[in-house]
Amino acid sequence: MENIIGRPFNFRMPREVIFEAGISSLAAQKAAALGAKRPVFITGRSMAKSEALARLMDGAKKLGMKPELWPEVEPEPPVALLYKAAADIRTLGGDCLVALGGGSSMDFAKMAAVLAKFPELDAAAMVGSEKVPARGLPTIMIPTTAGSGSEVSAVAVFSFPEEKMKKGVAGGNMVADVALVDPELTHGLPPAITAASGMDALVHAVESYISLGTNPLTQDLALAAVRKIAPNLAACVREPDNASARAAQSYGSLTAGMAFAMSGTAGVHAMAYPLGGEFHVPHGEANTAMLRWVMEYNLDGCPEKFVPIAEAMGINTAGMSAERAASAALDAMIALGEECGVKTRLRDFGIPREAAAHMAKAAMKETRLISNNPRKLTEDAVKEIYERAW
Ligand SMILES: [Fe+2]
Repeated sequence: MENIIGRPFNFRMPREVIFEAGISSLAAQKAAALGAKRPVFITGRSMAKSEALARLMDGAKKLGMKPELWPEVEPEPPVALLYKAAADIRTLGGDCLVALGGGSSMDFAKMAAVLAKFPELDAAAMVGSEKVPARGLPTIMIPTTAGSGSEVSAVAVFSFPEEKMKKGVAGGNMVADVALVDPELTHGLPPAITAASGMDALVHAVESYISLGTNPLTQDLALAAVRKIAPNLAACVREPDNASARAAQSYGSLTAGMAFAMSGTAGVHAMAYPLGGEFHVPHGEANTAMLRWVMEYNLDGCPEKFVPIAEAMGINTAGMSAERAASAALDAMIALGEECGVKTRLRDFGIPREAAAHMAKAAMKETRLISNNPRKLTEDAVKEIYERAW
């Protein structure tokens, strides 16, 4: 096995992943096929007012269902909100959850589906890998950004405010039933959200490619993602209604999500979480801020892993040493981030330099991600990276 394909892999996906402009209109039909009579649409306050949501709920009514709305998802949702949602969903008699939104809404729905069906379970006890004992209510994921990959991933991340931490619940029972990836929903997304979520997708691709948990299918998907994201993300930021760039970016986000669904992410995500947990920096922005500094550290450990990434970024690596190709890949990522206008310094988020020490302690607790980094991360190394990023 090892000789033929490298490392073996376990590819868990929703039973249906449909990618097509306009496909979100099939949500009601897909909910009906999952046996839903009272689907609950899970979203945040701004999407709750959107035409897209109204259309989806109308579609459900037309099929004779009684759709309900739970519009209280917050960015980087705190874990306590899950219990409120689960109780509300039970009161509403919800039998299927349809998430419409970015990573926060989709992650939220994946976990709320479990807690609504099994009220006795404790979310904190399910943090880590494969600790979700059973599948929850059926779920349909409809991303409205192109970055999180949550529609296909097996992980959901929440804030634990008392500990100032973000933690992930990962496992096969968290994978959604259906993912409807409709690039049209991302048209008109504001530049800052497009940039941060788009760079998050690039980080998913790069981290899954170089991570210790990688495998050949992850790597193929990751490079496919980089090939789409690198030439299209800036166009999405500049021209929010550019249909072909938006479709390419949605495809890049989806394939990057498939890639890290198998391998997991690594040091960038581990070090981004304390930025979110303590300083409320949104996930995409936190990852983009850490990308450069963690990758500079990783380049020293495994430059050869970055050569295919450089090629996927459009760099001609012929005649280049692995070190040169790797630093060209990183330069191209940094340039893309700058072109998209993302922040790359912790001070730009109002984070004090002295925070490096306790953020390093918090990042080290993300053991699932820290131990997946290709170059070993010690607490001292993590603290030093934070200081460089300041
Ligand atoms: Fe991410």
